[in-house]
Amino acid sequence: MNISPVNMDSCNIQTKSVRNTPSFQSGWFAFINYKDMNGVVRCGQVNTCLRTLDYKKLAKNIVSEIAPKKLKGFTENVKRFLGIPHEEPWKKANIYCLAGADGTEAYAMADAIIGEIGFEKAKKHVFPIYVSDVTEWIIKEFGKAGKINFSDSDIQRLGNIRKFLVEKGVADSGIKTYELKPEFRECFVFETADLQAKIASFPGAKKGEFNVFVIRNCLYEGFKKNERNAILKELTQKYPEQAMVVLGEFDLEKFRQSKFNKFFPPAVGLRDIGNQCFMTCVNELNESREIFRNRGINPSFLDFDI
Ligand SMILES: C[S@@+](CC[C@H](N)C(=O)[O-])C[C@H]1O[C@@H](n2cnc3c(N)ncnc32)[C@H](O)[C@@H]1O
Repeated sequence: MNISPVNMDSCNIQTKSVRNTPSFQSGWFAFINYKDMNGVVRCGQVNTCLRTLDYKKLAKNIVSEIAPKKLKGFTENVKRFLGIPHEEPWKKANIYCLAGADGTEAYAMADAIIGEIGFEKAKKHVFPIYVSDVTEWIIKEFGKAGKINFSDSDIQRLGNIRKFLVEKGVADSGIKTYELKPEFRECFVFETADLQAKIASFPGAKKGEFNVFVIRNCLYEGFKKNERNAILKELTQKYPEQAMVVLGEFDLEKFRQSKFNKFFPPAVGLRDIGNQCFMTCVNELNESREIFRNRGINPSFLDFDI
């Protein structure tokens, strides 16, 4: 079904979810993937998602992990002088947006990364960005169709990718539908998948790669406590030293309210680096366990459920 222009006057605003879509409408973070009675796609998260994370900071963190470290000092200068390789190669960043809905997050990341290293380098060292979501229609009608709905203020924010977006009409009041130009569209791979199954299928860490898992605002509403733990733990064990997990503000707020909040990141093998980003740190966690054990303290309190 197409994303058709809406005349808000004639549109029956009473809406209902026309498909069996996991949709969250709790608290201040009302997120909705649904079609209204006229069959018009409405994605509540579009505007919210762009505002709740500092994508520029995130891109800087990712780039600092994959860019060759600038080697300084006498030996490097001698090597440079003799024409001997004196820099490490770039690492490859693999970015997976799980529960990535209409692709807004992935586009915002692409925008920030292009801002950091330019389109050509981003194509070489970062793209494609992988996006999956369990809701089949949203993947089909947005990501796979190369379409996205943005408000004018969203478009203002996305200065580096604006040139890759072609306006295709009005989707809703204040929101326009854009089509991705082919050269930009090929920077993303969209797939319908349950995130637990997707994570189970990931191969694990490979040398020279840096993996980034974006799982925003889905864990808390979509999974039970033990499932959430299992999901994060599986990621941290498969990527013990070289991965970043980006969580959503809504989920983090919920984690913070939980009883064992202060133990949350280490309990699942994550180290908080700010900006809703966490680095996997299973090795550090094991070291901490060892320290407690050596002091005769049972380290099992580090395994609190969240
Ligand atoms: C609230 S939206 C969040 C979208 C986006 N990550 C953000 O923060 O803007 C929740 C998304 O999670 C998806 N979702 C829910 N359960 C899922 C599951 N088991 N596997 C993959 N995606 C799921 C929904 O289809 C929906 O697109």
